[in-house]
Amino acid sequence: MGYNFAAGPSVLPAEVLKKAQEELLDYAHSGMSVMELTHRGPEFSDILSRAKASLRDLMQIPENYKILFLQGGASTQFTMVPLNLAQGKKAYYVESGSFGKKAFTEAQKLAKVIDFEPISLGSTEQSGFDHLVSFASSQIDPEAAYVHVTLNNTIEGTAIYDLPETNGVPLVGDMSSDILAVNYDVTRFGLIYAGAQKNIGPAGVTLVIVREDLLPQVEIFSSMMDYRILAENDSLYNTPPTFGIYMAGLVFDWVKSLGGVPALEENNRKKARLLYDEIDQSSFYQSPVKFEEERSICNVTFRTNSPEMDKKFIAEADQLGFKNIKGHRSVGGMRASIYNAFPYEGVNELVKFMKEFEEKNDL
Ligand SMILES: Cc1ncc(COP(=O)(O)O)c(C=O)c1O
Repeated sequence: MGYNFAAGPSVLPAEVLKKAQEELLDYAHSGMSVMELTHRGPEFSDILSRAKASLRDLMQIPENYKILFLQGGASTQFTMVPLNLAQGKKAYYVESGSFGKKAFTEAQKLAKVIDFEPISLGSTEQSGFDHLVSFASSQIDPEAAYVHVTLNNTIEGTAIYDLPETNGVPLVGDMSSDILAVNYDVTRFGLIYAGAQKNIGPAGVTLVIVREDLLPQVEIFSSMMDYRILAENDSLYNTPPTFGIYMAGLVFDWVKSLGGVPALEENNRKKARLLYDEIDQSSFYQSPVKFEEERSICNVTFRTNSPEMDKKFIAEADQLGFKNIKGHRSVGGMRASIYNAFPYEGVNELVKFMKEFEEKNDL
């Protein structure tokens, strides 16, 4: 028995895996696996429309937003978002973590070939992204295309829980690591995107939720990158990641069965509280996050007072079945990713191990 603390791809609900196993060889008496179904047939059409309807319900997505199941990872959205939304305009970026920085860097690359102006609203890189950038809405030109934020900084362990004011400019949110784990108000966003591999399903699906009036008015040089074409074809412009969408649909049903996003957020807060309480009451462990209110409830980062001790912690934890607890290679330390499907008992067990490890090693 082990616990998988991986940041993504990460733990999936056992019930979902079991259901997929049961249906693996014969989906809905079709005599075929979901992997073998044509994406133009009635079975897959049903899978896709049910997945969309469940997500719309779970996140209370209004009808004037399109839901797209794409490929290319969240990283492709770093380019697709400005390409579709920002031509001829300014676009603001908040660099509070490595992925926010990447989004800005990709936007700058694109700005060399497409007419738009990416502007950084600030970066906390100098202090290791240990806190969020703060900015005033008066800094934002009301004519700008959007303000891009990363809701949960997967690597550094910070998160935005109070959405910023943007002077009427649409908010674009990279929600890769806390979609369905935190109950955000979708109507506050012009566009949301997320890689599936943390809270939604297996890697290979990228979710985009976009307000209809933001679909591009200009022709995009690639149909595969054109939100309007992708939306008009209901994510079926080309062959979609069919099995991943099927799995996402099962995960959406699972989230619903547990009481929806608010119930899961409450559970995630409880799990995170257990860990942060342990970190706070000990002088052996520290949180690298500067402000308590900015601590992520999905990725709990912590460390001891030396990289050698961290290494020992990770090795012993691994031996005991606490898998993938090593922090991201760019920051070191430890990271417990405790997304929706991660069980409360696993966090409890980890806290027990942390206490024992401290007792043995805090000499
Ligand atoms: C917040 C965030 N944005 C973007 C990415 C990149 O996602 P992908 O690997 O799907 O391109 C990740 C991956 O972990 C992430 O956590």
